[in-house]
Amino acid sequence: MTDEEDDLDEELTKETVESKLYSNIDALEKQKIDNKRIRLIDDSKRRSTLNSVFDERTIYQLTKLEKNGPLIKIEGMISAGKEANVYLGYDQDGKEVAIKIYKIDNNTSKWMRNYIVGDPRFKKVPHNISKIIFLWASKEYKNLKRAHKVGLRVPKPIFIKNNILIMEYIGDGPNPAPRLKDIKELKNISLLFEDILSFIKNLYQKANLVHGDLSEFNILYNNQYPVVIDVSQAVTTQHPKAEVYLARDIKNVFTYFGRIGLKLPNPQEFYFEVIKHE
Ligand SMILES: Nc1ncnc2c1ncn2[C@@H]1O[C@H](COP(=O)(O)OP(=O)(O)OP(=O)(O)O)[C@@H](O)[C@H]1O
Ligand SMILES: [Mg+2]
Repeated sequence: MTDEEDDLDEELTKETVESKLYSNIDALEKQKIDNKRIRLIDDSKRRSTLNSVFDERTIYQLTKLEKNGPLIKIEGMISAGKEANVYLGYDQDGKEVAIKIYKIDNNTSKWMRNYIVGDPRFKKVPHNISKIIFLWASKEYKNLKRAHKVGLRVPKPIFIKNNILIMEYIGDGPNPAPRLKDIKELKNISLLFEDILSFIKNLYQKANLVHGDLSEFNILYNNQYPVVIDVSQAVTTQHPKAEVYLARDIKNVFTYFGRIGLKLPNPQEFYFEVIKHE
């Protein structure tokens, strides 16, 4: 038990916190937001959804964030994944934020180790499952910060605590931006491709990072620009596997654009162009 958990006052029991979250979600359902992608949590799935992601400690943290800032409330779920769920929330100014909550899961923590070991920013790798997940979430926060600082299009990181990451919301009102994968007919394909190549290059040369899971699944399309998300597994360019991950990212992007009909340049040449400054 940490000091923070010790001061868990009666007001914040699991029951009251859950019912608070439920009532937020109820309110959202009443608003009947016209949105295909935000999944409103229905009654039958509600308890299992919340219980699977929100362990007691996470629920406690979320309520604290709602009580003391920076959050006002959590609304609909944008995405439910294996490792994390992403929610739409609002900050104290009523502005939308995206809240990514990592699940505390043993299998996940096992493969996460591969990306943490070898990264000079993380000298000691914890054994405890929650600590690995917290480190992972903080890694995503740090990677976002690094990329954002050099002017790359990623969501601006706002807050990190344990397994809860709050970042800039990419979307239009209640509608989160679609992933490239979800778009049927893309316009200006070659410009978009150039933008993504320059993202890869600048991420490597200016932020000293390799994304490591770049594909049409992790690129949002917002006002005709790509915004790259899901940077938790990104490694520094010194990581022993950085170049393998870079080659894989390039391959994914080229494969996708080839499939949608773009005439591609030589991927190897691009790879050497990215790494050449070293
Ligand atoms: N900042 C954001 N603004 C709007 N939508 C977002 C944002 N971040 C993530 N999303 C949405 O949530 C989805 C999942 O996010 P992300 O890719 O970061 O998680 P993930 O690690 O892939 O989760 P999993 O692999 O467990 O499915 C994205 O595909 C996107 O639709
Ligand atoms: Mg993803």
